[in-house]
Amino acid sequence: MEFLRHVVVLVHLVGFAVLFGAWVVEAVSRRRQATRVMDWGLLIAGVAGLILAAPWPAGIELNYAKIGVKLVILLAIGAVIGIARARQRRTDATPPALFWAIGVLTFANAAIAVLW
Ligand code: HEM
Repeated sequence: MEFLRHVVVLVHLVGFAVLFGAWVVEAVSRRRQATRVMDWGLLIAGVAGLILAAPWPAGIELNYAKIGVKLVILLAIGAVIGIARARQRRTDATPPALFWAIGVLTFANAAIAVLW
């Protein structure tokens, strides 16, 4: 069971890598758009995160305040990506504040995971 939890943590980290990696590619290439790859990363990190939010295997202690904050930030990232993509469809441009918010919020969630 503990091995299985570690596998889910690994999947969670792959989701984080896909989301943050996609964002870094956009930042460095100066396209600065919200992309479908970010959707996939967010979905993978989110689903794996929810599985990890359940107290298994028996006896494990979880920090629910930290998990709650991470969930709120994940929903905020999803909202920002959604708004940015709707704007892109209409005007072809992404407001810089929305683009930077995706990276900052993703980095913040990883920092909270590791440092809290
Ligand atoms: C973009 C969103 C997210 C990012 C970037 C992220 C990042 C991370 C990282 C880097 C870790 C590894 C920390 C470590 O092992 O020290 C981690 C662990 C964890 N995350 Fe997330 N996370 C996100 C969303 C979520 C969500 C939405 C939840 C739950 C609702 C969640 C629940 C957890 C839990 C419970 C762990 C601990 C796993 C364990 O050690 O058993 N995460 N997260």
